[in-house]
Amino acid sequence: MSTPRHTAVVGLQWGDEGKGKVVDLLTAKHDVIVRYNGGANAGHTVVIGDEKYALHLLPSGILSGGRTCVIGNGVVVDPEKLLQEIEGIRERGIAITPDNLLISDRAHVVMPYHKEHDAALERVLSSAAEGGPGLSIGTTKRGIGPTYADKIHRSLAIRMGELRDEDHLLERLKVICAIRSRELTALGVDAPPLDPHELAGRFAAYGQQLREHITDTVYALHDLRNEGRSLLFEGANACLLDIDHGTFPYVTSSNCSTLGIPAGTGLSAPCADDVVGIMKAYTTRVGAGPFPTEDNGADGERIRERGNEYGTTTGRPRRCGWLDLVAVRYSAMICGATSIACMLLDVLSGFDELKICSSYRLPDGSITDRFIPDARRLLDAEPIWETLPGWADEIDAIEDRADLPPEAIRYLDRIEEILGIPIHLVSVGPERTQTLEGTRC
Ligand code: GDP
Ligand code: IMO
Ligand code: MG
Repeated sequence: MSTPRHTAVVGLQWGDEGKGKVVDLLTAKHDVIVRYNGGANAGHTVVIGDEKYALHLLPSGILSGGRTCVIGNGVVVDPEKLLQEIEGIRERGIAITPDNLLISDRAHVVMPYHKEHDAALERVLSSAAEGGPGLSIGTTKRGIGPTYADKIHRSLAIRMGELRDEDHLLERLKVICAIRSRELTALGVDAPPLDPHELAGRFAAYGQQLREHITDTVYALHDLRNEGRSLLFEGANACLLDIDHGTFPYVTSSNCSTLGIPAGTGLSAPCADDVVGIMKAYTTRVGAGPFPTEDNGADGERIRERGNEYGTTTGRPRRCGWLDLVAVRYSAMICGATSIACMLLDVLSGFDELKICSSYRLPDGSITDRFIPDARRLLDAEPIWETLPGWADEIDAIEDRADLPPEAIRYLDRIEEILGIPIHLVSVGPERTQTLEGTRC
């Protein structure tokens, strides 16, 4: 038996790079697909023929038969959203069973008061910031920050395993609801106090529905790995949103880089033999925070319309701009990327010229090719542009990388040169078939 190879798929920008498409493609070569971070803030799109799926909590591998999908301990699970997602997938004819979906009993539960807190704090901060520097993060309001905060704070956190015991849940919720109600009032939420009986009943019912899926995924993953199964780790969010290594404080609340894999699964590092860093051929960002190569003019607008750059989770228009390779090179370093997947190259067809940034000019006049993972300082970085010729023809029907227009080949070559990492996959459309695999042209 050949040694199985384990792979990590991770976003190298600010999210929505096309991770769902790549995970779906790589699922064919793996047995187990594992989410290790984030929650329903993720929106991963997979297009299979005429069918389009948007996955938020379920690993994208769920769409292929015969795979084990794991929601690891590092994920924060909104059980109501998860059950809706499971139902939606089942209605489309895909089986979800205790064999193909395992949910960690240690994953933390997103409760309604987490979502209310998330939305209320954003409201308070955006009104406080009028005329001043932006304080709100522009979160997805999925309760991600407050749930991870409870995990770190410990005393008031609830884990998936606890949903199996209603009496225990009720005792805890009596205390939690009293405290949370006061906090929500302080944030200006005008609602009746939280009802521990209602919440305990509702969440115990969710626990009952998910009962057969909730398990010790740490032992399960070790068993699967020891049996010789190949693992595919599906990063949610992206490296520049990583709580430790992203553009703090405009980040999410988990380690979305590959550094989150060991802690979020219970598998010791190194977990993956291959790390596929996913990047768009340009850059987008949703929510607040610095974005040195953002284009607020016609080019950014054109990218948004051609790329249909509207959020999968919230529907918000994504901010668009040119490719920032200072940022991608940094993320590739943090994540240990062994290859790159360059997505949405088709969106760039029709531009006379394309811009790439591979260094920044700082306020003191110095030039750096190092990223600045600090929001305040990154605001002052000015991109230094390199201009490359564009191509006129649409490329979405091209089947072989060597058949791309010479300017597109040159664009990819220049990216490889700057990153020093090979591009093994080029994507020219959302569908599985619109993928050019293999190395150099
Ligand atoms: P993820 O969060 O990284 O999985 O990415 P999203 O699903 O949020 O956003 C990526 C969007 O681009 C989705 O609508 C995909 O269907 C789409 N997409 C993926 N690859 C390509 C591509 O090569 N070209 C085009 N035009 N769209 C793509
Ligand atoms: P996928 O997996 C794009 C952004 C939000 C916000 C910040 C914090 O689809 O690539 P949060 O709700 O996590 O507290 O929001 O992070 N964000 C994402 N942006 N894609 C994502 O996931 C994101 N997950 C979080 O827009 O700016
Ligand atoms: Mg997305």
